Amino acid sequence: ISVLVLNGPNLNMLGKREPGVYGARTLAEIETETTAFGAGLGISVDFRQSNHEGMLVDWIHEALGRCRGIVINPGAYTHTSIALHDAIRAVALPTIEVHLSNVFARETFRHHSYISPAALGVICGFGPLGYQLALTALQPHVV
Ligand code: DQA
Repeated sequence: ISVLVLNGPNLNMLGKREPGVYGARTLAEIETETTAFGAGLGISVDFRQSNHEGMLVDWIHEALGRCRGIVINPGAYTHTSIALHDAIRAVALPTIEVHLSNVFARETFRHHSYISPAALGVICGFGPLGYQLALTALQPHVV
């Protein structure tokens, strides 16, 4: 069983980027931990990052028939992207939204998500652990 784990813009900068907000771990480290955790659940994790909205849309489309579910940290596209909302609706794969930071404790422009209405649920504020929590929550929906 394969799950697509998608990361949006600026998440390639983790480790260097605002460590007080996002922590010290790099995306490569998060990938390693998430992939290992997924393997323990019997889930093969396809972990990707792009700074380009259209690339993320293409990857969501390509997940159809290839993956059983999606975990997505859309980065700032969370707050802007109707295209990502529509892509998730189009493939109708169970999708969980993840944010490293607690977006509700931050600027008001981060309080609205275009992704949440298309998602099964949202996990935010738990740092890299959020990806593992999302896989745990997704597992019954993908078996
Ligand atoms: C984020 C929160 C977003 O508001 C922000 O634009 C990001 C990262 C998070 O993981 O906390 O790039 O998605």
